[in-house]
Amino acid sequence: MDDVLPDLLVPVAEQANGLDPLTLFPGTKKEAWLEIGFGKGEHLAHQARTNPDVGIIGVEPFINGLAALLGVIDDEELANVRLYDDDAALLLAALVPGSSSRVFVLFPDPWPKSRHHKRRFIRPENLDLISRALRIGGELRIGTDHTDYGNWILRHMVQRTDFEWQAECPGDWRVRPDDWPQTRYEAKAVREGRSSIYLRYTRV
Ligand SMILES: C[S@@+](CC[C@H](N)C(=O)[O-])C[C@H]1O[C@@H](n2cnc3c(N)ncnc32)[C@H](O)[C@@H]1O
Repeated sequence: MDDVLPDLLVPVAEQANGLDPLTLFPGTKKEAWLEIGFGKGEHLAHQARTNPDVGIIGVEPFINGLAALLGVIDDEELANVRLYDDDAALLLAALVPGSSSRVFVLFPDPWPKSRHHKRRFIRPENLDLISRALRIGGELRIGTDHTDYGNWILRHMVQRTDFEWQAECPGDWRVRPDDWPQTRYEAKAVREGRSSIYLRYTRV
């Protein structure tokens, strides 16, 4: 944490004119992606490994998660990952509009009690921020194993005119795409007998 993290942290507070994520990475990256709430970072590490021409910012306030991913970044010398350790809304608000090509929100905390629903990450103001950060044609991926949160997400997304659901048949959202590795939370859901949904939206 002391040696590796400081060089990788995204300097959100210092960006008066907006943060262009592509400027954070060495060399030239063709796209910038963002993973919100990466947990222990298995999905993010896979994406970084298999897409070395993409710069990926991972956001995770959970310190054990950050530490786990830092270990992998250091061991494998992944040069295309940057990190932010606070609320993703703060980072999204600081980004130059249209500067990201993909946003992942995988298995966000479901906050099952009604009085806590307002804490759910997928809510109108955060969708506005994601929409602003994504370029037209960019993609938002959301996964959940929680039936009520899944319905909530679908209800919120169907109202949006700035996102188009890519699904054409049930297999498009019931089957995890090949380039979307299983996350730790999805694996837990499988062990506990729950199925998940895999939603992909295009920013239009
Ligand atoms: C249920 S876990 C899922 C972790 C991982 N995506 C997975 O599927 O294994 C949700 C994660 O989102 C993080 N999180 C919650 N609110 C957040 C926020 N506002 N910004 C960024 N991350 C957040 C939590 O710390 C937690 O690690």
